[in-house]
Amino acid sequence: MRLIIATKNEGKLREIKKILKKLDVPVISLNQLSRKFRIREDGKTFLENALKKAMPVSKVYRSDYVVAEDSGLEIKYLGAEPGVYSKRYSGRGATDKKNNLKVLKELKGAKKRDRGACFHCCLVLFKDAKLVKSFDGKLRGLINEEMRGSSGFGYDPIFYLSKYRKTVAQLPLEEKNKISHRAKAFKKLRKYLINKSI
Ligand code: IMP
Repeated sequence: MRLIIATKNEGKLREIKKILKKLDVPVISLNQLSRKFRIREDGKTFLENALKKAMPVSKVYRSDYVVAEDSGLEIKYLGAEPGVYSKRYSGRGATDKKNNLKVLKELKGAKKRDRGACFHCCLVLFKDAKLVKSFDGKLRGLINEEMRGSSGFGYDPIFYLSKYRKTVAQLPLEEKNKISHRAKAFKKLRKYLINKSI
């Protein structure tokens, strides 16, 4: 029995493996499987996308546990956008920089009370093509008035954490990986797996 993380991103796998350390099961990614899967992310919610990623893998590898996650940025002032569109918020040819600049433009002139934002990760655990449990992780912050810092990816340069007086992109990666939405969701998964003696 293995824990298959439904991702092709080895960087993400490394980050996840660190959080899941001391579990007694091998943790692998889609890259280590003989069957190839196409990941489609066209759901309307993070949960829907995570389910779409996990189900096809779990249908083939029924005796393994399969974990899939989807995440993004939610801004209340923008009706929870960019949400599931986080990766392609600025349209065709979207890049992290263009996405950040679009958010800054949408929030131009907005007061501090309207700049609240949340990184949200939804994670699902599957076995035998069935959902076993889902977990959520959130990191709350404010949208800064400009981009700052160069570490991390995505919206990290505009996501400001008052506690650190820094954007996420100004934090060392090890620090971000302790407090991130993904870390929170995966820590909940870890606790669940340990309690179930998996
Ligand atoms: P994914 O679910 O990891 O593929 O993330 C989808 C998109 O959400 C990314 O392309 C980013 O734009 C945004 N996002 C998710 N997690 C983070 C994060 O930790 N920092 C910054 N942006 C993120």
